[in-house]
Amino acid sequence: MQKDLREFIRTIPDFPHKGIMFRDVTTLFGHPEGLRLTIERIVDLFKDSNIDKVAALEARGFILGGAVARDLGVGFVPIRKAGKLPGKTISEDYELEYGKATLELHDDALEAGEKVLLLDDLIATGGTAEAGIKLVERLGAQVTQSAFVIDLPDLGGAAKIEAMGIPVHVLCAFE
Ligand code: PRP
Ligand code: ADE
Repeated sequence: MQKDLREFIRTIPDFPHKGIMFRDVTTLFGHPEGLRLTIERIVDLFKDSNIDKVAALEARGFILGGAVARDLGVGFVPIRKAGKLPGKTISEDYELEYGKATLELHDDALEAGEKVLLLDDLIATGGTAEAGIKLVERLGAQVTQSAFVIDLPDLGGAAKIEAMGIPVHVLCAFE
């Protein structure tokens, strides 16, 4: 039987706002077996997928992105919160389970036609992932695959991204 990654993930009620059950991956990434299994399972999913770049979403997506890109033998592209990238950027506003924010991407981070794997630790409403996809597409590249450690299916994000025609892979879910 495959190890259930949920055993490594801590839940903190009422963070960052009352009523939110916060799924905390610091306990997953802080455990050697949890970190190894997470990276290995994502790499296994995409090792034959013809990906040109891994793009990940700040902040927790970055922990996965560098390791997965390295193992797939491709480059890593950061999609950052507003005001953090030093070069010329494009930006997208979005909403998530507990707020609003803006994401940015360097305007020369991807070549037109490149196939991108989008990574993050968790998908809830899908607002963050959708903003990331729009940024990639504005540079003429294409998100051909996406993966998340955790799905919150009640919030409908994975279904929304699938409806955009992008395959969504998740390693575990909290109903
Ligand atoms: C969390 C999580 C995802 C996003 C998912 O990030 O890491 O990026 O929320 O929510 P959504 O599917 O409803 O958009 P958060 O914005 O808390 O930022 P952080 O990683 O910088 O803490
Ligand atoms: N991002 C959006 N919703 C979240 C949740 N419930 N736990 C952790 N990260 C999140």
